[in-house]
Amino acid sequence: MVKVIVGMQWGDEGKGRATHYESKNVDLVIRATGGNNAGHTVVANGKKYAMHLLPSSIIRPEVVSTIGPGVVVDLEVLNSEIEEMQKAGIKITAENFLISERAYIILPHHKQMDAAEEELKGKNKVGTTGRGIGPTYESKAERVGPRMWDLVHTEHLMEKIQQSLRKANIVFQRLGYDKISAESEYDKCMEYSKKLKKYIGNLQKVVNENIRNYNSIIVEGAQGLCLDIDHGDRQMVTSSNPNASGSVSGAGIGPTFVNEVIGVMKAYCSKVGEGAFPTELNNVIGDRIRELGHEYGTTTGRPRRCGWLDLVLIKNARFLNGVTGLCLNHIDTIGRLGAIKVCTQYEYNGETIEYVPFDLENCKPIYQTFKGWEITRTPKRYEDLPINARRYIEFIEEYACVKVKYIGIGPAEEQTIIK
Ligand code: GDP
Ligand code: IMO
Ligand code: MG
Repeated sequence: MVKVIVGMQWGDEGKGRATHYESKNVDLVIRATGGNNAGHTVVANGKKYAMHLLPSSIIRPEVVSTIGPGVVVDLEVLNSEIEEMQKAGIKITAENFLISERAYIILPHHKQMDAAEEELKGKNKVGTTGRGIGPTYESKAERVGPRMWDLVHTEHLMEKIQQSLRKANIVFQRLGYDKISAESEYDKCMEYSKKLKKYIGNLQKVVNENIRNYNSIIVEGAQGLCLDIDHGDRQMVTSSNPNASGSVSGAGIGPTFVNEVIGVMKAYCSKVGEGAFPTELNNVIGDRIRELGHEYGTTTGRPRRCGWLDLVLIKNARFLNGVTGLCLNHIDTIGRLGAIKVCTQYEYNGETIEYVPFDLENCKPIYQTFKGWEITRTPKRYEDLPINARRYIEFIEEYACVKVKYIGIGPAEEQTIIK
């Protein structure tokens, strides 16, 4: 049984909570794409955990949590995440945690290049997280730079770092940035090699065995469809394919083994970084959503841009990802707005459309309005939700042509309602 969990919007939809929820009693979880641009929150056992590279299942010691070849890894961030979790009493050993030897390493020069590229883009900057994600995927496409394998077999590590640095240092010199020495990057890699080596191995072998034994596997996606390098908003995207196909590729699973794709969405929209956002609310309502939903980045702390739910984007994401069920979060948050709007069509070049055009920035949203609700006690069953909330949820199902599987009425594990 393979379930893939993906983001339907611009990230931060609650994939961490969905992955943690779904990983109960599963055998294997694979974090599949992106790097520490992601920030996945889990609220369980009365505690809040923020994961950037570790899979959101890591707090379940009985599950094997892994990082797939599609992920780019910042060694320092991963190591401190592991150490912090261990300090908090979470078991992380070579038995329950594995990193694919194929994953590429984010080096300090990739982070500096991230800043340089943003500077060069000027007014067209993406608003990246500055974590070196894009430049590391550039190195990967260029087929240079070390992978996790090179922390275990270090004989070519220096050569690979030098090769990756060559072009970067020419750029840094021209732009007036400090050059970075191969020795400093090598020393850093060697330092973390000692600490991380025990977790690095052949993930594909483990995946194949699990598939062969009909075990339950979760693929934890990162980001969201609107940030997909091929299918997202022009160049205002990340550097990987966080859609469902990209996620199974990043995990190392063939598409015919996938049984379910869970599309995670919020009952409104939020976005960090630049780019088109048709339903954005640059007003007090947007501010209210930000405060009610605590919409500040897990990774950067940046206030997130907020707006109404855009169902045109959701329907597109539903088909493109092959979603079989939705996880709909923040039903508690949006209900408190009183009157809620939902975008069901765009006005585009004098026409009314229901698809996503390439130049999304030229779309003006057309809305339908819904009545709000307040969730006071913690309802346990779908039927116990306020009628207005159920109307909203059922409208989403009908519009997106897919059922809502579960609903978030708060961040905690127990604030989840199965529909
Ligand atoms: P991810 O990147 O998709 O894993 O999402 P993030 O963790 O970055 O952002 C989601 C935020 O919403 C986190 O702070 C969650 O704790 C919170 N959250 C998730 N689901 C709900 C929900 O149903 N209600 C409320 N109020 N908060 C939620
Ligand atoms: P999770 O997994 C929200 C956004 C950045 C920026 C763009 C490119 O927590 O949902 P990058 O650093 O990837 O080159 O930045 O993508 N971005 C995210 N926004 N949630 C994320 O991850 C994101 N990962 C990248 O803000 O707009
Ligand atoms: Mg996040």
